[in-house]
Amino acid sequence: MGLGTGLSSGTSDQDGRHGQEGVSPRDGRNRERARRTAEGLTYLSGFGNEHSSESVPGALPVGRNSPQRAPLGLYAEQLSGTAFTEPRASNRRSWLYRIRPSAAHPRFERIGNGSLRSAPFTDTAPDPNRLRWNPLPDPPGGTDFLDGLWTLGGNGDVAQRSGMAVHLYAANTPMTDRVLCDSDGELLIVPEHGGLLLRTEFGLLRAEPGHVALIPRGVRFRVELLDEAARGYVCENYGQPFVLPELGPIGANGLANPRDFMAPVAAFDEGEADRPVQVVNKFCGNLWAARYDHSPLDVVAWHGNHVPYVYDLRRFNVLGTISYDHPDPSIFTVLTSPSDTPGLAGVDFVVFAPRWLVGEDTFRPPYFHRNVMSEYMGLIEGAYDAKAEGFVPGGGSLHNMMSAHGPDRETFERASAAELKPHKVDDGLAFMFETRWPVLPTAQSLEAAHLQSRYDEVWQGLQRNFRP
Ligand SMILES: [Fe+2]
Repeated sequence: MGLGTGLSSGTSDQDGRHGQEGVSPRDGRNRERARRTAEGLTYLSGFGNEHSSESVPGALPVGRNSPQRAPLGLYAEQLSGTAFTEPRASNRRSWLYRIRPSAAHPRFERIGNGSLRSAPFTDTAPDPNRLRWNPLPDPPGGTDFLDGLWTLGGNGDVAQRSGMAVHLYAANTPMTDRVLCDSDGELLIVPEHGGLLLRTEFGLLRAEPGHVALIPRGVRFRVELLDEAARGYVCENYGQPFVLPELGPIGANGLANPRDFMAPVAAFDEGEADRPVQVVNKFCGNLWAARYDHSPLDVVAWHGNHVPYVYDLRRFNVLGTISYDHPDPSIFTVLTSPSDTPGLAGVDFVVFAPRWLVGEDTFRPPYFHRNVMSEYMGLIEGAYDAKAEGFVPGGGSLHNMMSAHGPDRETFERASAAELKPHKVDDGLAFMFETRWPVLPTAQSLEAAHLQSRYDEVWQGLQRNFRP
């Protein structure tokens, strides 16, 4: 029966009450079960593969996608992540064999959007200033992943399937009775604190700090917690699905290697199949909810390439100079969402992972620059080598189109005087969402108490050193 049985959802407990103090007894039991479940997970290896998986032997049809009667009384259903007619290299679709068809649902009704915002972002005048935030404050008790999403800004237009949004999340209770489906884009989840157990239509994924999880557009999932609280970042990509970047002269290997992307094996939860859940659909910028009489996480078998993944950023094969100068940070691209213009990404996900610096006669930290692309940076752990202070795990900075940025004064002075022996940068894991359009901040992000008010001072102490 594979993983299809024995995954207790914990929802038969009726004593769960989330007070302001935080953890309820039900949350604690759910967390213990989630941890045990997460420890035993197995995966399918390889980004973009035509994966297939069945949690019950014989559930997956052989030789065709839609037989007259699907095996075991299941319903066959295709989930298309790209247009039917897109080229093979970019085509995404999966076939799901499920207990009930997705079409069997009641009407969706609008619910509040909470702190979630979507493109087009029009609540503030676009801000050219360099901005930096401290971590999100702790949320009230009883906040799950969905309630804990807080939008910093973004660009594009969800209805045009273009652009992206930067969200942060802070949660302290699992999603047990509800499921999220993002029709507006795919979600790249970047945990910074606390592990997550992602229960998706395709199966289960474990995402710890240092991992990223990718949930494709339209895939239903819910988030359980492996620790008392969880915090992190989300890139919502409205545009073309993320792919691995081309390697060009780098060759056939390097950067993020495809086999390190792990897809789930099929798993459905018998305990969930016939209990009511709220399904929340993010559609064209708003949240809509319907009360299903069953869980849509009822897929017994599947095959295809429109699937979720988890990836351990520590497996990133970091490349850089072995002579002089600092390559552009595009050399650290993990995933890219292409646009219609070759080389111009809707959004790149870039990681600054531990690496050796050996460049001769080279200013080794990231250089001063102004960029037509816009850069949101976050920190998963440790410190970032261009900022000595003020940029902390869970926080973030936004350097919008053409804003001037680079190392702070202390970093500049230290790196300019440093003895250039081989040096390993190994005390941090930072990342960047780099996007083709300016990131337009939400009103809540400009009014937030955790917005730093004196970020510009980072560069104020840079002295005139010109000696003609
Ligand atoms: Fe930059």
